[in-house]
Amino acid sequence: MSKALDYLLNARPEAMQAYFSFLKKAGEHLDPKTAALISVITKVHAKTANGVRQYLPRALRAGATADEVIDALLMAMPALGFSKIVWAIDIILEMNLPEFAHVAKPAAKSSETETWHEVAPLGAIQEGDAKFFQAGSRRGILTQNAGSVVVYDAHCPHKGNLIPEANIAGDSAVCPFHEWKFDLKSGKCTSGGGAGLRVLPSKIENGIVLVKG
Ligand code: FES
Repeated sequence: MSKALDYLLNARPEAMQAYFSFLKKAGEHLDPKTAALISVITKVHAKTANGVRQYLPRALRAGATADEVIDALLMAMPALGFSKIVWAIDIILEMNLPEFAHVAKPAAKSSETETWHEVAPLGAIQEGDAKFFQAGSRRGILTQNAGSVVVYDAHCPHKGNLIPEANIAGDSAVCPFHEWKFDLKSGKCTSGGGAGLRVLPSKIENGIVLVKG
C-alpha cells in the first residue's frame, strides 16, 4: 500500500474503510478475471504506473490472456483515449512479461516467434544453485533442484520490478523494493506477499540451457 493510502487510513479510518468496502461490494458479482481487467483499466485511466504494474500480473493470474488485456484496453478507448493506451503498452513492454511476447511480432507465424536464447551450459549450474542471467531481452534466475533445471523471471510478481543479482543467494531471492522473499526451490513467496515467481519457458539442447523470449 502507498504511503498516501496509509496516511489516509490513519487520518480518516472510517471513511477509508467504507471506501474499501464499497469497492469490494461493487465487484461481488464479477468473476475475478473481469474484476481484475477492470482494475487494470482504472489504473490506466488514473495513469498510475505502479498500479498497472501491480494489477496487470493479478489479471494474468486470474486467467486473463495478453489478448484479453489488449482488447480490454482498446474497448476502453472512448474513456481512456489513445495516448493513455500507448502509455500503458509502454509499461507492459517494460515489464517484459512472457504472456505478451507472442503479440510483439504480429507478422510472424507462431513457430517463427519462438526465439530461444542461450542462458548457460548445463554444467555451469550446480544442484541447489541459482544464477542471475540476461539472455536476449530476458532477465531471469537459473536454478537446478533435484536434477531439474527451472528458469524464473527475475521480475518480481508484486509490481514487476527487477530482482537484482545481488539479492539472489543460495536458494532464496529477496526483492529489494518491498522485501518479498522467494524460495528458489519452489518459486513460492515465503514472506512479505503472495504470488510466486513466474516460470519462463526453457529447454536443454546439446547441453545448453535455452530460454524462450
Ligand atoms: S516490487 Fe514489491 S516486493 Fe518486489
